[in-house]
Amino acid sequence: MPPTSRSLDEAPWRTAVGGLWDEIGRLQYELLLGHGLRPRHRLLDVGCGCLRGGVHFVRHLEDGHYYGIDSDSDLLDKGREIELPRAGLGTRRVHLACRDDFDASDFEVGFDFALAQSLFTHLPGESIALCLARVGAVLADGGRFFATFFEAPAGKASLAHPLGGVTSYRESDPYHQTRADFEAWSSAAGLEVTHHGDFGHPRDQRLLEFRPIR
Ligand SMILES: C[S@@+](CC[C@H](N)C(=O)[O-])C[C@H]1O[C@@H](n2cnc3c(N)ncnc32)[C@H](O)[C@@H]1O
Repeated sequence: MPPTSRSLDEAPWRTAVGGLWDEIGRLQYELLLGHGLRPRHRLLDVGCGCLRGGVHFVRHLEDGHYYGIDSDSDLLDKGREIELPRAGLGTRRVHLACRDDFDASDFEVGFDFALAQSLFTHLPGESIALCLARVGAVLADGGRFFATFFEAPAGKASLAHPLGGVTSYRESDPYHQTRADFEAWSSAAGLEVTHHGDFGHPRDQRLLEFRPIR
């Protein structure tokens, strides 16, 4: 029997990336669309999971222009084998790589857009710094990297987010960071950071944008 949309909503790979499949999938798609993502662009989805946003991006972009990396091969398989066909996109060409070092140089293209949705919320500071350097290195001229995070004031070991009911932590997953953290990490990576703030995320994540310093 084919899965119903209700049973799919409860599928383990969807809950593994945080659920809210339709809402957060569409949110990230509309976010990049609003920032100018066009079908001709190439997009790198960092920590793409099982393609919650990916299904929307693959539909929007020219064939072969969606690239995703994730450390979990099972999530990548579920995206390719279940979510893309279910969205009517089973014949589309996508580039997916399983790796945890944020190195997308093997794809051998420059990216107009990169996105890390709900990735920094699971990473310690040294991994975020590495991610910024590695993704910054594969941006095309004029390329932009958008990322979400839990924002906290300096000195907070834990922070309850009434919107969404999540508690984030300085030293453990789910992580929060300060604006000053990102100023330091981005400047070390040769990037400038813009704080866009609230972008309608249902669990209180905030939006950042990174561009190479000219
Ligand atoms: C909350 S999920 C979000 C997935 C996707 N961006 C979305 O919105 O559905 C976080 C993802 O980051 C991936 N991840 C965690 N650490 C990673 C790393 N070091 N490199 C690549 N992916 C990583 C996890 O496997 C998971 O798929």
